[in-house]
Amino acid sequence: MNYLDQQSEFGDKFESSLKNLEKSIKDIYKIRNKYEASIEESSIRLHSSTLDYKSTYACLNAILKNKITMGELVKIYEKDYEEYLKGSYSVLSCNSGSSANLLAISTLIQSKKLEKGDKIIVPALSWSTTIFPLVQYGLVPVFCDCNDLDFNISIKNFRNLIEEHHPKGLMIIHTYGCPADMDSICSICKENNMVLIEDTCESMGAEWDGLKAGTFGEISTFSSYYSHHICTLEGGLTCFKNNSDFKIAESVRSHGWVRHLNKNDEIFKLYPLLDPSFLFNYIGYNLRLSEPQAAIGINQLQLLDSFVEKRSKSASLYTNFFSKYQIIF
Ligand SMILES: Cc1ncc(COP(=O)(O)O)c(C=O)c1O
Repeated sequence: MNYLDQQSEFGDKFESSLKNLEKSIKDIYKIRNKYEASIEESSIRLHSSTLDYKSTYACLNAILKNKITMGELVKIYEKDYEEYLKGSYSVLSCNSGSSANLLAISTLIQSKKLEKGDKIIVPALSWSTTIFPLVQYGLVPVFCDCNDLDFNISIKNFRNLIEEHHPKGLMIIHTYGCPADMDSICSICKENNMVLIEDTCESMGAEWDGLKAGTFGEISTFSSYYSHHICTLEGGLTCFKNNSDFKIAESVRSHGWVRHLNKNDEIFKLYPLLDPSFLFNYIGYNLRLSEPQAAIGINQLQLLDSFVEKRSKSASLYTNFFSKYQIIF
């Protein structure tokens, strides 16, 4: 059963008012879509929100049913994304792609997989909040040139930088929907014992050799900012290959506390005098996604494949148009 069909505690009148609200939102979207279609005849937008009436209604439904934060909708959204990545990663949602990156780096530092002073290769064509968490935690970013085919990192320069700097990790970006060369990158990282983190904020749904971008590294991150592939108003996802990293990140996302752990967890035996609800074992933040945003996310994920298809069609249109100008290709 769809969670939206669950009866709430507020009674029949409340439920029928919700149905009327859903219908009104649908009508409002019809009017808006007609207006926007008329504008699109005379202009090309760089981007627009992917919110549809179902996503907007799901958001309001959550608010009206007092679903605010840390509830079942966030868990459903995260499970849906785990399925989307074909089950090989444990997923935590958070309140932006930038937070997703911060959560990834903070976790790798607190798990001691990375240490202050370690060098991390990052693309020269990068985003500020890909780099800032590294600097914030005392890691040293080393900038790698990009190639002129798809603007992802140049494999030649990547190899040279490894020889020169002996880095501990690579924080790759899959640029503008184009996956980086994961065959070369994965084998080079393995050869050199480097931690691979995939910032996939610009490329949700992209694939390399039939595998989703964001399913190669130790940790991968995604954004649901409205100019990216799906929209949860603001939002992000951090995905973990390793369960012990996931457990640390759950705390880092929520104030550094450990109250979500099983009461028999070893950690509570170390501090028998402390109330488990107020044990803060990691350096933490509040990076959580709200329930109404997760409700939007659940709906948006159902549309993700169609959004990727539309973007690919737009890319082909541009590529075909510009291919006659040899100076560009
Ligand atoms: C590669 C990359 N990483 C991270 C982000 C940050 O995502 P958000 O805007 O959701 O914080 C962006 C841009 O928005 C980005 O392009």
